[in-house]
Amino acid sequence: MPATRHLQAAELDTAAAILRAGGLVAFPTETVYGLGADALNADAVRRIYEAKGRPSFNPLIVHVADIAQAGRVAVWDDRAERLAQHFWPGPLTLVLPRRLMVPDIVTGGGPTVAVRRPAHPVAQALIVAAGVPLAGPSANRSGQLSPTTAEHVLRDLDGRIDAVLDGGPTRAGIESTVVDLSSVEPRLLRPGPIRPTDLEALLGPIAHRPFAVTDVSGSNRIATGALPSPGLLDKHYAPQTPLLLAPDDGTAQARSLGGRVGLVTQLDTILPGVTVERLPADADGYAAGLYAALHRLDRLGLTHIIVASLPDGEEWLAVRDRLRRAAF
Ligand code: TXA
Ligand code: MG
Repeated sequence: MPATRHLQAAELDTAAAILRAGGLVAFPTETVYGLGADALNADAVRRIYEAKGRPSFNPLIVHVADIAQAGRVAVWDDRAERLAQHFWPGPLTLVLPRRLMVPDIVTGGGPTVAVRRPAHPVAQALIVAAGVPLAGPSANRSGQLSPTTAEHVLRDLDGRIDAVLDGGPTRAGIESTVVDLSSVEPRLLRPGPIRPTDLEALLGPIAHRPFAVTDVSGSNRIATGALPSPGLLDKHYAPQTPLLLAPDDGTAQARSLGGRVGLVTQLDTILPGVTVERLPADADGYAAGLYAALHRLDRLGLTHIIVASLPDGEEWLAVRDRLRRAAF
């Protein structure tokens, strides 16, 4: 494939034409960049898996323009309506029973489909211009860090996709909250910008997957058992450089490791020989900057990236989850 085209937001019609022709276009959302293809074209969706090197049992999120379009790919119900009215457009993905028009390759052959209406104006305009729902995983090679800029996308996927549509850096910085509504008891499959208590206010109690709630220093493997969301298994969202979660501010570890070390911290820290990335004290600000900081550190050929421990509290759930998966 020729080099990937770097399109500006004004070139939206070109991007839409590539999608209608079965091509792959990475596009900005309010969370991270997605790798879009016509969700109703199985051949186009198959190319997403090839470009990402993603295992084909890991299903994709279908990005829709509105609730009506969601209802054409998924079996809509009262709970979905309540959540969508409140949180869409926005960083909330709903897993619902699928409709048959959705190709198997999108759902991993399973009985459900994940749908989301993204809030980014460029994403919304692109879905409307393409005239079809867009299958869109994060626009990175499988297992790597999600991209929050068009440059991140190109670094990972240049030559493997047709185009990236540039909408500047993304706002939320981590992937959407995924909630499974396909059975009687709603389940949180992936924590994200929309928090469990926000969902419970509308749904009543929701079950959680056994991801670490308070412990970020443990193993990066998820407890075994039923596999309601294959993409939540295994190491994920990881930089190439080994990433260590410190039990404290990380400075002792940074000193003792020697070598060329990076430190991600919320504190104003200066350590000789250590590249420090300082992130905001609030959870939303931290999430917004996290992947960009990790991408920068990952380019420096460091021996380790150390991440200082985080405050407790539900607002840190999503960031903890991502860091735990990224840990070496
Ligand atoms: O913010 C986001 O969600 C970004 C932007 C581009 O929308 N997308 C994203 O997609 O993070 P991806 O493919 O990297 O992650 C989607 C997650 C995976 O963990 C996948 O296994 C899960 O959603 N998923 C997709 N369809 C599912 C289904 N039918 N049942 C259960 N889990 C599903
Ligand atoms: Mg991903």
